[in-house]
Amino acid sequence: MSKPLQYCPETLALSAGFFPDQQTQATTPHITMSVNHSFVPEEGSFSANGIADLADAPFLYAGWTNPTVRQLEQRIAALECTDDAYATTTGMAALSAVFFSLLRAGDHLIISDVCYAAVYELARDVLPDYGIEVTPVNLTDLDAVAQAIRPNTKLIHAESPCNPLLRLTDLAQLAHLAKQHHVLLSVDSTFATPVITRPATLGVDLVIHSLTKFINGHGDALGGCVAGSKALIAQIRSRAAAHFGATISAQNAWLIMRGIETLYPRMKTISDSALQIAQWLANHPRVKQVNYPGLASHPQYTLATEQMAYGGGVIVFQIDAMDEIAQRFARDARLFYYAYSIGHQRSLAVLLKTADLMASTYRMTTEQERQYRRYAGDGVFRLSIGLENPHDLIEELDRLLC
Ligand SMILES: Cc1ncc(COP(=O)(O)O)c(C=O)c1O
Repeated sequence: MSKPLQYCPETLALSAGFFPDQQTQATTPHITMSVNHSFVPEEGSFSANGIADLADAPFLYAGWTNPTVRQLEQRIAALECTDDAYATTTGMAALSAVFFSLLRAGDHLIISDVCYAAVYELARDVLPDYGIEVTPVNLTDLDAVAQAIRPNTKLIHAESPCNPLLRLTDLAQLAHLAKQHHVLLSVDSTFATPVITRPATLGVDLVIHSLTKFINGHGDALGGCVAGSKALIAQIRSRAAAHFGATISAQNAWLIMRGIETLYPRMKTISDSALQIAQWLANHPRVKQVNYPGLASHPQYTLATEQMAYGGGVIVFQIDAMDEIAQRFARDARLFYYAYSIGHQRSLAVLLKTADLMASTYRMTTEQERQYRRYAGDGVFRLSIGLENPHDLIEELDRLLC
């Protein structure tokens, strides 16, 4: 169940979870670096539910959570309209925490046939070693999802918009289908952020982020999180914090919380710039195809207008002479950095060749690969737009793509 917002989200980005230090009345959060908090034995004893009950004060051990981390978790939960959240060292740690906390040997996972490469590889190579069955499905095809559901299916994992295609999943419809079959639905919403989509309000059970990307937004801290109901987050925390050691550090939590304070204006500015750049690319004579959820030419534009407040900061486009242009980005760009990540304050670009991803990562049926190529052809440049003036970025692209 999603929880209603009390303040507007822009306000919650500054206020949720924040409590001023009582001694100094400082107006920004203090970092509590202490690993331990002393306690009176009967207050700090383990309950029948283990550490699941110890997410809130009195704090005991930073491996489970700590006052700074807790502020971040509460802020994320408020923005995602969920009861609770658990913050992890990286986005991959959050994804592993979800899979290894909720799935057992004999369970079945349905995962988007296109998603961030490392999570696809985790599902393809690692989960089967633990007796978990995995089926990659194109989640835009709800009939295919319904057919893939088995009696032992426990979880469907989606990514919307997905990396690298920017293909969308209809989260409300998929959540409806999942509920009919008593299957949990998790969505990696890293590309959207809560500014653009709040999946829990559409019926999604667990919302996962790589906080390393837009939510921190400054390219200087790794982090991840999962947000959902109190019971699910307690279940995930009790495994991932105590047994996997996945909890984020206080210092990174503080940096990411500072990033969140400007998340709303940043995502709006970045999305406005990305739209201008996507429109410019779409009119460029050498560009063969542009995928951007904010463009009317996106194959799921109607869904984008319903499910997304803005188009987001990532654009992918196809162009001939990919290798030569990749060299130009790497050697001649002054504003775009040729790098793999997304969601920083500076713009990034990278070439993702279809043949390379098919060889390294995806194992697709002929039809799945045909659908992939519909969005990506032989390869795409992925642009992550930063906070530079879009006119400067367009001028640079004009020079690099000529
Ligand atoms: C959609 C998505 N999810 C998860 C991750 C993993 O995040 P992290 O690098 O914080 O582990 C990434 C990384 O690029 C991503 O793009």
